Amino acid sequence: MKSDIKLFENGKRLDGRKPDELRNIKIETGVLHRAEGSCYLEWGGNKVIVAVYGPREAIPRHTQNPLRAIVNARYNMAAFSVDDRKRPGPDRRSREISKVISEALGHAIFLERFPRASIDVNIEVLEAEAGTRCAGLTAAGVALVDAGIPMRDIPVACAAGKIEGQVVLDLGKEEDNFGSADLPIAISPRTGEILLLQMDGHMTGDEFNTALDMAIKGCHTVSEIQKKAITEKYQKTEGD
Ligand code: CDP
Repeated sequence: MKSDIKLFENGKRLDGRKPDELRNIKIETGVLHRAEGSCYLEWGGNKVIVAVYGPREAIPRHTQNPLRAIVNARYNMAAFSVDDRKRPGPDRRSREISKVISEALGHAIFLERFPRASIDVNIEVLEAEAGTRCAGLTAAGVALVDAGIPMRDIPVACAAGKIEGQVVLDLGKEEDNFGSADLPIAISPRTGEILLLQMDGHMTGDEFNTALDMAIKGCHTVSEIQKKAITEKYQKTEGD
């Protein structure tokens, strides 16, 4: 989509960020007492809450896998999370995001330890401002740790993209609306494995490689913020 807005001028973006700068991120864990694990995350203007339940017996029974647990991530955007009220309930977009997040998380969890079980990850987007799948997946990683689910690593996500011929990290709302490409990824930071990679728009091969490197670096930065939130929570609990 074309716009009259200048997304990139004098080396700076609309919100004053440098090309490789993330929006502000704040993570808090253990925020819901009825859930087994939870996380509240703010990423720029995104506000996301995640509640994890399980491992528990998968219901209905025909969904059970006798060899491993299944991961049911359910991504939902609240009706009031966007400027135009969003019609409540699942739609194609939320089903797609739920599926890719379930698969990404499933790669990190030791699923074979919990045959016939399901691990339910409820991701509620309270406010959306582009990049909600990355925000939701990152919060889910922290909530899974809080729930004590054994994992190989804490999955983390971040996007890079292209605006006005410039590759940039972590697109904001106008950049997402009027930019030319968005590349959200999720990784396992310890092994460097890519757990999710999606792209819309168009980039050259070189721009794609630059964007991928930038998104991977972004993931590592976000991973440090995840770990800090977890450490802070458990240090506080120990001190209580
Ligand atoms: O949120 P994410 O970037 O992962 O997914 P997207 O499908 O690229 O959506 C980009 C943004 O569009 C969202 O974060 C919302 O801010 C906005 N959006 C909206 O305003 N109304 C919708 N029904 C869906 C998305």
